[in-house]
Amino acid sequence: MSSVSHDLAFFLKHFVECSVRPQLQLQLQLQLSTTSSLAERNYNANQLRPTASEKMDKVEDNSKFLPVTPRPKPLDLSHHLSPLSRRFKPSKLKGLYKYGAIPGMANLAGGMPHPSFFPFETLSASALTSNHFTTSLHTTFLQLLVSIKKPSHFTIPKYPPPNSPDPSTDVYLASALQYGACDGLPVLLDFVKDFAVNYQHQGKIPYDSPSVILTCGNTDGFHKALEVLADPYRGDKILMEKFVYSGAVNTVACRGIDVVPVDVDKEGMIVEGDDGLQGILESWDVRRDGPRPHLLYTVTMGQNPTSGVLSLKRRKQIYALCQKYDIIILEDDPYWFLQYDLFTEVPDNDTFLSTLVPSYMTIDTDGRVVRFDTFSKTMAPGCRLGWIIGHPTIIDRVLKLSELTTQMPSGAIQALVAKLLVHTWTMSGWITWLSLLRHQYESRMNTLCIALEAGKTVTMIHLKNIRLKEIVDQDGNVIDSGKYSLVHKAVKELYEFERPMGGMFVWVRVYFEIHRLYDGMNGREIMKALWDYLTGEELRCLVCPGQVFGANDEIEEREAWKYFRLSFAAVDETELKRASVAFGNGVKEFFELQEFPKKGDEESTGLNAEADLRVPHFC
Ligand SMILES: Cc1ncc(COP(=O)(O)O)c(C=O)c1O
Repeated sequence: MSSVSHDLAFFLKHFVECSVRPQLQLQLQLQLSTTSSLAERNYNANQLRPTASEKMDKVEDNSKFLPVTPRPKPLDLSHHLSPLSRRFKPSKLKGLYKYGAIPGMANLAGGMPHPSFFPFETLSASALTSNHFTTSLHTTFLQLLVSIKKPSHFTIPKYPPPNSPDPSTDVYLASALQYGACDGLPVLLDFVKDFAVNYQHQGKIPYDSPSVILTCGNTDGFHKALEVLADPYRGDKILMEKFVYSGAVNTVACRGIDVVPVDVDKEGMIVEGDDGLQGILESWDVRRDGPRPHLLYTVTMGQNPTSGVLSLKRRKQIYALCQKYDIIILEDDPYWFLQYDLFTEVPDNDTFLSTLVPSYMTIDTDGRVVRFDTFSKTMAPGCRLGWIIGHPTIIDRVLKLSELTTQMPSGAIQALVAKLLVHTWTMSGWITWLSLLRHQYESRMNTLCIALEAGKTVTMIHLKNIRLKEIVDQDGNVIDSGKYSLVHKAVKELYEFERPMGGMFVWVRVYFEIHRLYDGMNGREIMKALWDYLTGEELRCLVCPGQVFGANDEIEEREAWKYFRLSFAAVDETELKRASVAFGNGVKEFFELQEFPKKGDEESTGLNAEADLRVPHFC
């Protein structure tokens, strides 16, 4: 950034801080950071495109994406690193790469195939426009303009055009399909950094230069972060919400890392109470329980499966505890943009971003939050693309692990996503896409919740036979036999659920305990019978048994079986309507059964089945 524009930015910021209402200040801050990153992007455009190795060396240099206010350095948290990640060695070949960039140098050192041998000449795609989901009600003039301007068809050439005005931002196959920078295709990585730092987290990350690298999605990011931070041999344990995404539990369990479940409410992880975070940490006895957990995994927006969104107030309490007990927070957030009941109509981009509950990143003064974002829910899961942001030391180790494992996300996908985001939709289009997508999901969530609400009660009629004294007349004829049935009518809820605050799921608590066939012992059996009933030929309604989401065996056994997780994301609106009504009807019918129609084997719920590797993965 030139000194003139820097001074101007500084003056404007000072003016804003002194005199403008806080709400307006937020907006202006956003504009300031945008201005600065734009200016610096122009500056970068004049630079030679960095080689893969230069990019790798520069992974910690994110300073150009930070807002103008200087920030303190994060704490030294290197004592959290696992022994494995301390043993990573720099690549012996990497040191040679920079010589390859010297003009005139013939590269006989690298084992990279020459691009002329790549069979792919171009890569073309037709993409929806960023405002595709605008309903006519919500079309503003600006949105209309965007849709007219932006073509939705693009072709990625093999080589950059000869007279390209800005080669550093070109997307072309000779580079994208080559061995590349492990932190990501530069043009896409720059976009993601700019988005994460200046838009998603609104320039509010409190410390200097958080690092960002691309991953193959959150599963990949979490797995790598665990390798870098956790060590079962030193007795590491991890705190998690008691109902939690099963993929995360499996990732830690197979490494021999025990889960310490933390109680949840409708927002998410709770602080107070014996089973809240504070209670667990305060009563931890190192001699009895082993080392206190130094990792906390959490899904804070649209929690999977409970759909909570953790308030900023709660975040601050949890963060303070993590500071006190020196805990790293692993924030897994595929659903952050899916927060509900915030807008009555589609908001403008600034309002959309500034109204969403902010991430732990925005209060992370120490650098103890490692955050995972993914394109799985915003574009498509098959992209296997996401990013990880956090403390430079930790992200650097994740990068080194990537050098040894995935190297980089698929170049073809990176090229496609870069072309769409950077050249076609641009930043404002991308944010519009997220905002409109949120709106679509909210409408589906409403469809499911309305049907669930309508189906959750039943009028139960209890007949009680009573016998009163027989009444006879003078001749001995029975006038009144004294046999009566007392009819007791009660409206009962068969299940309850919280309307989701975010995400893709509704977490339904079924009151199995009031079923006449429940005997206090057979909870899982009765859950299984209902599951069979719902999936049967008549209803064909597949829901996910809650026990999948127990953080450990005890939670599974004690309470997770009482729930089903219903997703409103996977089927279209018509099918969703049918299945939502079918669920309510199915539960009602099930509660009227005098005996269970059939006893399937445990495997039909998929709970005990060995995973069939050919069937699609469920999240
Ligand atoms: C909480 C959570 N984390 C991670 C994932 C998987 O994300 P990705 O596709 O980016 O690996 C999911 C998918 O549903 C999820 O719900």
